[in-house]
Amino acid sequence: MNIIFYHPTFDAKPWIDGITKRLPQANVRVWNAADDEPADYALVWRPPHAMLAPRTQLKGIFALGAGVDAILTQEARQPGTLPAGVLLIRLEDTGMALQMQEYALASVLRYFRRMDEYQLFQQQKQWRPLAPHSRSDFTVGILGAGVLGSSVAQTLTGMKFTVRSWSRSAKSQEGVQSFFGDDQLEAFATGCKVLINLLPNTPRTAGILDHQLFTYLHHNAYLINLGRGGHLVEGDLLRALDSGQIAAATLDVFVEEPLPAMHPFWTHPRVSITPHVAADTLPEEAMDSIVNNILAIEAGREPAGRVDLARGY
Ligand code: NAP
Ligand code: GLV
Repeated sequence: MNIIFYHPTFDAKPWIDGITKRLPQANVRVWNAADDEPADYALVWRPPHAMLAPRTQLKGIFALGAGVDAILTQEARQPGTLPAGVLLIRLEDTGMALQMQEYALASVLRYFRRMDEYQLFQQQKQWRPLAPHSRSDFTVGILGAGVLGSSVAQTLTGMKFTVRSWSRSAKSQEGVQSFFGDDQLEAFATGCKVLINLLPNTPRTAGILDHQLFTYLHHNAYLINLGRGGHLVEGDLLRALDSGQIAAATLDVFVEEPLPAMHPFWTHPRVSITPHVAADTLPEEAMDSIVNNILAIEAGREPAGRVDLARGY
């Protein structure tokens, strides 16, 4: 069995060694532009067109992350990036859900406990107690109720927040009010004090964090974008911060990454930035999952995390 690996930033060695240790029968190699030798499986992140296009024999392509938008965008731009009919498999959880729970809870509590405001007061040497927020006035809405969105919802209900979710199909999650479909987006968002985005980036969800959606929220709402930069209409957020519709935003993902030095988000006093680290790919967990999936495919079973190419996630 031949496996090729490509990631623009990861150190490949632990992956080659780790897959080889788990699958001693496999010959695992780093792909380079001159490599057109046969391969059964490909492990990829942002693969160049030339890596996959000619490989009609591939039995599966494994995305080294949860989102597959970069691969599907590349396919839309340059059809044939994905060999016709190939299985595309993404990482489901593999340690990302816990990281998302940590990140989302830390961000919600920072706003709920007014830590961002106290940080500012400290810089001004102001001793100034503020009235605490009340939970009844602090509904959290989560866009996306999949692997990551539902795990964040569980953490927040555990902290006794009122939580809503929005997805394509109806959900039944204890303590979470489910909204679904475009028709229910307004009802979902109306009155939310915090909006957390954990949608996949697809043609249907791109630009969803826009002026219209912000107007449904509670005045002075908080935005936490953990999905993709392409979900956010950046100019609409800047205007909503100016008008007070959005009180503050925590952004982990951006249209252009790294965020350009001149971007106004860097210096905005009410925008908090992290460099796309809300939930990293954890190699050991990811390799366990990928190898289990390869064994499933070899045995004729359905792998976990298969991407529906028509839906785009
Ligand atoms: P997932 O399990 O596929 O969940 C996606 C959710 O979005 C599902 O609930 C789905 O609804 C919903 N959805 C998709 N399209 C929709 C639409 N048009 N209208 C309404 N709901 C829609 O994905 P996941 O594993 O939770 O990951 C979500 C995203 O998080 C990834 O795609 C990635 O972009 C992002 N992410 C970011 C980081 C980071 O570090 N910032 C790390 C990992 C992942 P249904 O359940 O009804 O299908
Ligand atoms: C990271 O953003 C991922 O999609 O895994």
